Amino acid sequence: MSTSSTSWSACLMTAVLVGLGLTAGVRPAYAQQRDPNHPAPLDTISVEAYQGWKQFELNCARCHGEYGVGTSFAPALIVSLKDGGTIPTKELFIQTVCAGRPEKGMPAWCSLGLEMDKIQNIYAYLKGRADGKIHAGRPGVKAGPEPGKSSS
Ligand code: HEC
Repeated sequence: MSTSSTSWSACLMTAVLVGLGLTAGVRPAYAQQRDPNHPAPLDTISVEAYQGWKQFELNCARCHGEYGVGTSFAPALIVSLKDGGTIPTKELFIQTVCAGRPEKGMPAWCSLGLEMDKIQNIYAYLKGRADGKIHAGRPGVKAGPEPGKSSS
């Protein structure tokens, strides 16, 4: 293969990748880290809560609002999960998310295939939000021992 056709195909590849990124709204993780205008994370949270934040933004935020603040369509989960709120326990949260309230527009996430560990991680994030321990905004993840490695 000649040099010119190699660089042409590399160029085409880049164009395809950029096009995909734009249409799907995907920003690769490295782009976020290198963006000098991106604000530093406000809170450093557990791996579970961080994964929960990502799952929440992926699956729930379009109805429940970014960071759980609610929309005109679905309630603010940072209020629902407060002590004395409509969803005061983890058990009730899991049950509600799993079964949903399809007749009221809340999907049944277990039948949609959302795994239980993801629902639990979402709970960890939203409970932290409801308790005022995690603020609205992009969180950072706590540096710790890598999974599977001993901390000693
Ligand atoms: C298509 C829109 C939509 C999506 C997506 C959605 N929800 Fe909901 N959710 C609703 C609506 C609407 C309600 C209120 C139902 C009602 O009136 O009882 C609700 C209610 C809830 C409640 C009960 C709140 C309360 O105070 O009673 C919880 C908990 C909840 N959603 C969690 C989630 C989680 C977690 C996700 C993501 C995995 C999610 N929802 C995704 C629409 C949505």
